[in-house]
Amino acid sequence: MERALTDGIERVVIGAEAIARRVRELGSQISEEYRTGAAKDPRGRPLLVVGILKGAMPFMADLVRAMDFPLEYDFMAVSSYGNGTSPGEVRILKDLDCAIGGRDVLIVEDIVDTGHTLQHLLAGLSARGPASLRVCTLLDKPHRREVEVPVDYVGFVLPENLFVVGYGLDYAEVYRNLPFVGVLKPECVREA
Ligand code: IMP
Repeated sequence: MERALTDGIERVVIGAEAIARRVRELGSQISEEYRTGAAKDPRGRPLLVVGILKGAMPFMADLVRAMDFPLEYDFMAVSSYGNGTSPGEVRILKDLDCAIGGRDVLIVEDIVDTGHTLQHLLAGLSARGPASLRVCTLLDKPHRREVEVPVDYVGFVLPENLFVVGYGLDYAEVYRNLPFVGVLKPECVREA
């Protein structure tokens, strides 16, 4: 018989209820701000929320449903090819379907770690001339930052230097469908 996904988890770091509460708070805060001034598009087009695949998918799905104002959404997929110790090249695997010139854009990320992925995304998207460009991340590891990146909305700051899985975050592409964020048992982490 297949083992349960939770068998690989040592401990839960952020439970499903805590995530749901925080996502509702973020949704309310973002709604409030975009209704009362954060939007800069001179033509008044709706905010474009850009989810970064694959990790942001569960967060994005919950967050947009906690946002109570007209918006559009799209996705980008990026991949980072590192050698394990140094950050690698960030490649765009899937780009946006629409142009963002003059539009308000909110990037939704699963986690900001060294900041390299976000720096690359911000540089690429800013060059397209959006009216405004903000970032919302579920998780932040500020102590791991190698490059400075602006993050406007943060769900949770991870207190320790933890590698976490669940609610979109993977280890070797598995564990994304856990409803909580947790830490793997050491025996479930293969040697690199
Ligand atoms: P950065 O470019 O170093 O900021 O890394 C961002 C990407 O690294 C995220 O989108 C994740 O895919 C991955 N990542 C960083 N920390 C973790 C973690 O604790 N668990 C799972 N993936 C992580």
